[in-house]
Amino acid sequence: MDLPAPTQVPRFAHGSRVPGWDAAVDPAKDPAAVPDAATTPVPAELRSEIEAHMAKYPNPRSAILPALAAAQRVHGWCSPEAVEQVACVMALTPGELEAVATFYDMLETERPTPVAHHSVYVCTNISCSLRGADAIYAAIAQAAGDDPAINVRSFECLGACELAPMASVDGTYVGPLETSDVSVLFDDLRAGRPVLESKQLANMPCADPAAAPPTDAAKPAKASMAGKTPVKLLLDGIDEPGLATVEVYRRRGGYEALEKALKSDPEAVLDELNASGLRGRGGAGFQMGKKVSFLPKGAMVKYLVCNADESEPGTFKDRELMQKSPHMLIEGIVIACHAAGIGEAFIYIRGEYSLQADILEAAVAEALQAGLVGENILGSQHSLKLVVHRGAGAYICGEETGLLDSLEGKRGNPRLKPPFPALAGLYQSPTLINNVETLATVPVIMRMGGAEYAKLGSEGSSGTKVVSVSGHVQRPGNYEIELGIPSREIIYGLAGGPPEGRQVKCWFPGGSSAPVLTAAELDVPYDFEAMAKAGSMLGSGAIIVVDDSTPILDVAMKVAKFYAHESFGKCTPCREGTNWTVKMLGRIERGDATPMDLEIMAGVQENIIGNCLCVLGDAMAMPIGSIIAQFRSELEEQIERARLAEAA
Ligand code: FES
Repeated sequence: MDLPAPTQVPRFAHGSRVPGWDAAVDPAKDPAAVPDAATTPVPAELRSEIEAHMAKYPNPRSAILPALAAAQRVHGWCSPEAVEQVACVMALTPGELEAVATFYDMLETERPTPVAHHSVYVCTNISCSLRGADAIYAAIAQAAGDDPAINVRSFECLGACELAPMASVDGTYVGPLETSDVSVLFDDLRAGRPVLESKQLANMPCADPAAAPPTDAAKPAKASMAGKTPVKLLLDGIDEPGLATVEVYRRRGGYEALEKALKSDPEAVLDELNASGLRGRGGAGFQMGKKVSFLPKGAMVKYLVCNADESEPGTFKDRELMQKSPHMLIEGIVIACHAAGIGEAFIYIRGEYSLQADILEAAVAEALQAGLVGENILGSQHSLKLVVHRGAGAYICGEETGLLDSLEGKRGNPRLKPPFPALAGLYQSPTLINNVETLATVPVIMRMGGAEYAKLGSEGSSGTKVVSVSGHVQRPGNYEIELGIPSREIIYGLAGGPPEGRQVKCWFPGGSSAPVLTAAELDVPYDFEAMAKAGSMLGSGAIIVVDDSTPILDVAMKVAKFYAHESFGKCTPCREGTNWTVKMLGRIERGDATPMDLEIMAGVQENIIGNCLCVLGDAMAMPIGSIIAQFRSELEEQIERARLAEAA
């Protein structure tokens, strides 16, 4: 394809979306499109920050997201001037940067007028909306009025569903919010005080299952693993003050597993991982040891990428692990890299987790200082460069190949597979990608031995799992359980069940992309196999409970709107299917639908599943399909009720 002549290069046009346009212009072929340093003044601090980011990566282009974020901080938004400055320092074209910036929610490419000084992002995704987020958003938007200094936006799941309803105020998470908090929030904000200090996430302890005695409803009907001593491997001592420091972490035995691993051959470490049977904790549930063994052997450039882009609605376990025990993750990464012969690793953390990214960066710096990462770790032959990379708000970057493209400084579009990342991943090199919880479990396995670890849990689902429980439960939070316990013990025994007088109507066992189950399935063991057998999936290990006060149509609409918003539009079944589903649910709401619409909508879901480039389309079609199947009579009643109301 011929490149446009320099004068025809698409210029920066704000508000315009350019789907799929990430190949833009190659500056090597079109040097005239790169802003001239002589005519593009760049503030010295911004220039040195961008250059420092560029130096962290094998390919400096990977610094695009942090560079744009830095320019946005300086200019208040990704203005044409901000983009020109980044382009000048990175020797890229503004058009190329614009194509990337418009993909990400946290990069403001449309000018707030005038530029706002504060951002209030109110989560209105499913777990928050079940607990009143829509009313909170309306109250906050009304209180902000047309104050130009405050940018209020409704946001998708911010990964703090235990705080529901919650908001991120200039990056600080606060919740659970009540309407009476709104005026205090604005008073604090305008006075320059820390907002709603008593409701900030930063110092909240892990959920406490002992906060209330379990009720009868917590007892499973049969086949219970109750009576087993609860095992805490990842959350043990998680609230100990100072655990995020290397000193306290080591005092508790941290990095002993690394010492043990470094004294062993990489193959021996891999044997332990295989013996443990550890399955990925991010969603797909693939065995970690097998993943490592898929990487080519021998000396070559290979990478590890830790997927910390925790974005599946209802999931917030990785956030707590990174925030409170970052060294557990770092130790796991170093051990995994030793086992796989990898010398460079990245933690791709979602942009909204700024507190956790700061904590991780501090922990990596401390680990470097202590010789726990870097050159010749603990005097061994193993060296590892570890970089924390911040995303900028895009659900699809949780998909492993979308994440890789994003880390390479592109729009986070998933890739066609094969080739799989184990052969051609980051920068087309072999890449091991694992989730935070998976990697944080690696030191535990090294400490106790793979075979011992495999004794925990159930057949095919070994070990423990941190489960995020949110929605209509009395004690939302993260709970570590042995895989295979009845789901009822988690929902009722640990999280306290629905509010007094209410019953479970349905629940998502693995984030909002999992097919819903009903109260009849509460005794299904919580593990990979049993969930699949029950017609759903363990997914990211996030249980969202919906009680019987909620119309199922509201649940379906929330889910469908989210995936329609997050679809990146590359393949037809996903792009059209998600939007058609939202439209058809809207017809039901407005009273324009007939029962035939349910048939059509169910057919749309069937045509999406398995027919998309990545899993995003399925992520909507599976729960919506299950809602139509499980709650057809309620939806039919709703159609009739709305139709009569419309006709009246
Ligand atoms: Fe609101 Fe997750 S933080 S739904």
